[in-house]
Amino acid sequence: MPAGLRIEAPDPETMVAFSFDGVPMQGIGGESIAAALFANGVRVFRTMPKTGRARGGFCFAGRCSDCQVIVNGTPAVMACVTELESGMRIETQRGVGEWGGDD
Ligand code: FES
Repeated sequence: MPAGLRIEAPDPETMVAFSFDGVPMQGIGGESIAAALFANGVRVFRTMPKTGRARGGFCFAGRCSDCQVIVNGTPAVMACVTELESGMRIETQRGVGEWGGDD
């Protein structure tokens, strides 16, 4: 696999599949969701509840909440401190998000 937006090409055996807003993507299992999204060219993770302005992370240390995404129907997941797992369904969080669930 080519490095793409990464510093070096990842080991293909470490790659897992996930989706972001329905788009199939690949990342390194165990890296942060934020790192996987950046490596796939995603810069906007959420929009603010009142202004609708885009956010894509700020502190990357679990302190600011600018990286919140919806994961498998659960809103307010901190992308910078949550490990990527195979099959995750990750979505942009708009405002405070909505509980989706897997039914
Ligand atoms: S970027 Fe600040 S909590 Fe994730």
